[in-house]
Amino acid sequence: MQETIPISLPRYRLALTPTPVEPLPNLSSTFGVDLSVKRDDLTGLAFGGNKIRQLEYYFGEAKTQGATLVLITGAVQSNYVRATAAVAARAGMRFHAQLEERVQGMETESYRKSGNILLNLLYDAKISHYPDGDDEAGADAALRDIAADYRRQGETPYIIPLTPDSPSLGSVGYLHAAEELLSQCPSADHFVLASGSGQTQAGLLFGLRMLGSDARVTGICVRRAANEQRKRVASHCRGLAEILRVESPVSSADIVVDDIALGSYGRAEAHVLNAIELAARSDGLILDPVYTGKAFAGLLALLGDGTVARGDNVVFIHTGGTPALFAYGPEILKHLQHEHQ
Ligand SMILES: Cc1ncc(COP(=O)(O)O)c(C=O)c1O
Repeated sequence: MQETIPISLPRYRLALTPTPVEPLPNLSSTFGVDLSVKRDDLTGLAFGGNKIRQLEYYFGEAKTQGATLVLITGAVQSNYVRATAAVAARAGMRFHAQLEERVQGMETESYRKSGNILLNLLYDAKISHYPDGDDEAGADAALRDIAADYRRQGETPYIIPLTPDSPSLGSVGYLHAAEELLSQCPSADHFVLASGSGQTQAGLLFGLRMLGSDARVTGICVRRAANEQRKRVASHCRGLAEILRVESPVSSADIVVDDIALGSYGRAEAHVLNAIELAARSDGLILDPVYTGKAFAGLLALLGDGTVARGDNVVFIHTGGTPALFAYGPEILKHLQHEHQ
C-alpha cells in the first residue's frame, strides 16, 4: 500500500513530527472503547497545534514569493494568529494581525489581554481591528487594503486568506498527519476532531482515503451548523484534488460533520467545560473551550448516543489551542466554583 503522498509544493519545515499518539486508559475504560489521542498540540513552535502543520505550506509559498511581511485575520483569541506570529518571527518576516469581534460580550481582562493576545504582543505583532466577526469577504478585503498600504511602504506582503474559496494550502499540511496516523494507529476505526475552516478535516480525510484507509473521520462543528460545514470540507477536498492534480478519493458520504455540541462559537458553555474537566480529571488531558473542548464534548455525545460503538478504536485529534484556556480563566473558575457549591 502507498505510504506517502507526493507533494511538489514549497514547504517551510516547522512541525516536530510525527507527533505522538497517547492512550487514554481511564476514559477508555469508562466508555468501553479503545480511545487514544494524537497530540498535535505538540507540533512544536509557540505551544504547537494544527496551524503549525498548515503554515508550513503558506510560508513555503510566502518565502518563494520573497515576502517580507505576512498578514492574517482571525478572532481576538485566534490560535491561528498566534501561530502565524511565531512562524513569521522564525522566518524573519514582519507580521500584521487583523482581529475580528467574533465573540460578542467577552470583555474580561483575560480575554482581551491574556492567552493568545499576550503571545501576539510578545511576537511584536502589528494589530488592527475589524468590527464584524461574520463577514469573511469583508475581513479579507480589509486585509488586502492593509497589505496595499504596506506595499506602498516598500514591503512585499503575503496574505493568508480566510474565505472558504481560498486555496487549500492548510489542508496540504494535514496529508502528512494522515501518513503518520496510518503507521501509528493502523487499526483505528474512527478519527474525531474539531472542524472550523474545515482545512484540517479535509486534509486528514483526503490523505487517509488516498492512502487506502476507509476509517471514519468525524468533524465536530465549532462555529457553523453541519450543512454549512460540510460544504467547507467538500470545497477543501476539491481544492486538494486540484493542488495535487489527482481525482479526489473522497466521496460525499465520506464527509462526516456533526453539530451535536455546537452551541455558540467561543462562549465557554457548560457542556464544553464539563468535557474539559472530564478529560483533565480522567487522563490529565488539557483541552481548550473553543476547539478541542468542544470537539471532545462532541465525542462524548457520540459515545452517549451510540454513534461511536462500544469496542471501537477511536483516535481523538488534539489540535492545540492550549493558550486560549488562560483567556477563559474567569469562566472556568466560575464553572468549577459553581460545581462545588
Ligand atoms: C486549536 C484549534 N483546533 C481546531 C481548529 C480548526 O481547524 P480548521 O480551521 O482547520 O478546521 C482551529 C482553528 O483555528 C484551532 O485553533
